[in-house]
Amino acid sequence: MAEADNETTAKGEEPLLSVRHLRKSYGDHEVLKDVSFDVRRGQVLVLLGPSGSGKSTLIRCLNGLETIQGGEIRFKGEVVPNNSEKAWRRLRTEIGMVFQSYDLFPNLTVAKNIELGPTKVQKRPKAEVDEQMDRLLADVQLSEYKNAYPRELSGGQKQRIAIVRALAMNPELMLFDEVTASLDPEMVREVLELMLRLAKRHMTMIVVTHEMEFARRVADTVMFLENGVILERQSGSDFFTNPETDRARNFLDSMSPVGDE
Ligand SMILES: Nc1ncnc2c1ncn2[C@@H]1O[C@H](COP(=O)(O)OP(=O)(O)OP(=O)(O)O)[C@@H](O)[C@H]1O
Ligand SMILES: [Mg+2]
Repeated sequence: MAEADNETTAKGEEPLLSVRHLRKSYGDHEVLKDVSFDVRRGQVLVLLGPSGSGKSTLIRCLNGLETIQGGEIRFKGEVVPNNSEKAWRRLRTEIGMVFQSYDLFPNLTVAKNIELGPTKVQKRPKAEVDEQMDRLLADVQLSEYKNAYPRELSGGQKQRIAIVRALAMNPELMLFDEVTASLDPEMVREVLELMLRLAKRHMTMIVVTHEMEFARRVADTVMFLENGVILERQSGSDFFTNPETDRARNFLDSMSPVGDE
């Protein structure tokens, strides 16, 4: 994704998501320290950083799954009242999240898993939702599994259904936290390719991943986090070719394939 494309299309527009001075602690342990950044519509922001740097915590804060100790989160120009479960319940219909463990309801078919949010939470007509579901399932080549139960699906298939389920809500922002981390290698590709297609269609996404080749291809912008602080934020192409800090350079070296010099 070319950074320039987004810069020109989004000029003058207010960011879809705006985070200012976000602070998150667990007890005395401050995990996010004064984190500020924006995400434009259509932008793909890849969040990188060592284990424990706060990536998952940040993603969870952006879906109201963590209480925060300070700062401000704005979505579509409106401040989200801090730690308001009511506000987040509404926003979770606009901000989709998929994480490592595909959390499909085991007792519901694929179709019921997908329909639940759009019909029960968004109260959209079932016929319209079903039509959209059929399109989404065809897109991920899983139409034949519509009436299957999650236990009948492979890990990669489950994860694609989890993504379809989030997309069926027509989210304006998608959050992905290591969605391929628990998949067998041969299933990783199909999930990453789905995410690349979403990016090409200008879905706004924040992506945490350990798949560096994928990160390089999908990222408009990379944000490198360490100890809850944003150490670097720059275009994907600059980050991967010429990181600003030694810390990021070492990180990239540590992520390169074994045996690479
Ligand atoms: N529920 C929790 N209670 C206490 N501390 C927590 C909790 N969740 C995370 N932490 C701490 O917050 C810090 C950041 O964790 P987080 O899971 O956000 O890191 P991460 O960057 O996602 O790491 P990884 O790459 O391993 O997934 C870590 O020090 C972790 O121990
Ligand atoms: Mg994590």
